[in-house]
Amino acid sequence: MYDHYPFQLLPLPYAYNALEPYIDAETVEIHHDRHLKAYVDHLNEALQPYPQLHNMTLEQLLINSDRLPKCIQTAVINNGGGVYNHNFYFNIMGPVNHEPGAQMLRAIEKAFGSYSNFKEQLKEAAVNRFGSGYAWLAANRCGDLKILSTANQDTLLKTGLKPILLIDVWEHAYYLKYKNLRPDYAENWFNVLDWFQVESFFQKA
Ligand SMILES: [Fe+2]
Repeated sequence: MYDHYPFQLLPLPYAYNALEPYIDAETVEIHHDRHLKAYVDHLNEALQPYPQLHNMTLEQLLINSDRLPKCIQTAVINNGGGVYNHNFYFNIMGPVNHEPGAQMLRAIEKAFGSYSNFKEQLKEAAVNRFGSGYAWLAANRCGDLKILSTANQDTLLKTGLKPILLIDVWEHAYYLKYKNLRPDYAENWFNVLDWFQVESFFQKA
């Protein structure tokens, strides 16, 4: 999915206005075409002088970030993480809000008691993430689900957990429409969560 250097800006899998009225077209356009593009460009700029790194996948670069040349470690963690997280984020949203399937729902109920508890806990993780970052649903090796949050553009790649879904709580994801009301964005975001895509990640996990 993520190929190797030079990394490309993957096309948005739907129209800019496909997530309205919950996420407005201008936010989606700026988020994808400017913020994500900047992460892609800055990652490529950091890697450009190091041909020995040009065959590494994005996941390999992020997992081995502490073995990269010192002067590009931060750039790869921030911009590579930005590319990885945003590709994931844009992929699990869509205009059609499928319901969680039976297997997914069973796993959610086992971990959180009910779908509504899961939703509340994910929202809480999203709202309480101080500053910028993400709230995640992830699975351990046994397929047990847990909710957690990460700062900045950190990923789950070094945790051993498999990401199932994530919500971007950087202000650029919601500020034009929701201003400082992150809880309203988090609540409405469930309307654009595409469970069909989410379940493909759950199956892989
Ligand atoms: Fe973002």
